[in-house]
Amino acid sequence: MPRIDGKRLLADLQHIRGFGRFETGVHRPTFSPEDVAARQWLAGRMAEAGLAPSIDGVGNVLGRSPAAGPCLLMGSHTDTQPRGGWLDGVMGVIYGLEAARAFAEEPAAAGLSIDVASWADEESHYLSFLGSRSFVGQLPEAEIDNAKHREDGTPLRQAIAQAGFAGRPRLTLEEGRYRGYLEAHIEQGGSLETDGKRIGVVTSIVGIFQYRMTFEGRQNHAGTTPMPIRKDSGVALVRLLAQVNDRFAAIAGPRTVWTAGRILLHPGAPSIIPGKAEVLLQFRDGELTQMQRMEEELVRLVAEANAMGPCAVSLETLSRTPPTAMDARLQDAVAAAAEAHAPRGWMRMPSGAGHDAQILARRLPAGMLFVPSIGGVSHHYSEDTAEADLVLGCQVFCDAAFRFLKA
Ligand code: GLV
Ligand code: MN
Ligand code: MN
Repeated sequence: MPRIDGKRLLADLQHIRGFGRFETGVHRPTFSPEDVAARQWLAGRMAEAGLAPSIDGVGNVLGRSPAAGPCLLMGSHTDTQPRGGWLDGVMGVIYGLEAARAFAEEPAAAGLSIDVASWADEESHYLSFLGSRSFVGQLPEAEIDNAKHREDGTPLRQAIAQAGFAGRPRLTLEEGRYRGYLEAHIEQGGSLETDGKRIGVVTSIVGIFQYRMTFEGRQNHAGTTPMPIRKDSGVALVRLLAQVNDRFAAIAGPRTVWTAGRILLHPGAPSIIPGKAEVLLQFRDGELTQMQRMEEELVRLVAEANAMGPCAVSLETLSRTPPTAMDARLQDAVAAAAEAHAPRGWMRMPSGAGHDAQILARRLPAGMLFVPSIGGVSHHYSEDTAEADLVLGCQVFCDAAFRFLKA
């Protein structure tokens, strides 16, 4: 069985943490200078590991194994949330790199191969699952042409050009090359910690639907405009959001969650009635029928708000990613490896976070492994995982890959 080198793994994780360090976490948004530098560093580390690296026209980094024989694709993402954690995404990429090195050093793994990827923009600064959707052939050029940064409006094409990737071909899944896709990630919730387990075998990944609601009112003076004639887009937004919250609570299933993560009022000054308001809203669930029901409710509430006035509301769908089951054989390989290295210290569990594995699963058998997040915290710079868990998780990951490819 290939043996990972825990010191080498931790050293690489600490090194890449330096690209965009923020407090104890990392600020490395997609195509920022720090993100581009991290991709280039990763490509160099892949080459040192004996993989042939390339960075493609949307920023995907792929290290291809020169070895013949059954191949497993591994990866995750190296972009981060704004002021995010140091492990979200990048841990899975470095696990892949370490597994590739461990395979190369293990005679029993001769004839087996591993490719490693960092998928661009998993955190959706421009486009939901930009890199992995491109790789599986489900991202039309027109979508790239039209995409803009979700906050500052920079066109995606411009960001790609500034990163130095414009004009490069887009890498796509080579038919027949892979037996499957395996991704490791921090749990990002507290279930493993609460249950006293060290490894999660992911059974399914949550679906995520995302929307932008825009409210058009009339900008005017906050002192001279009588209340009855105002068209206050901020008030309209708050009222509708409260209704959405109440209605979603009434129809929610046990795993339904919803979030309004960003609200903007234009122009955003204390003495101006906001003329335009915007909210980014998402909901998640493990059941597609439940998600469709929630979308119907949202559409109905928006129609009611439009009928009532005085502000016009538009609802734009940003992405619809359905819930996805993980491959049974990959689950069993991760479970067997977990039992070997952490007897009774693992459990099967669904993922409440989205992952590139749900996109790769459209073309390949896909599986995932989780390690515990301290205090269940993620998408915050304080996100962390115990070193011993990082090392154990990588060994289980590597062993699971070996078992899967050998079977
Ligand atoms: C991925 O980061 C997610 O938001 O689930
Ligand atoms: Mn994330
Ligand atoms: Mn992630």
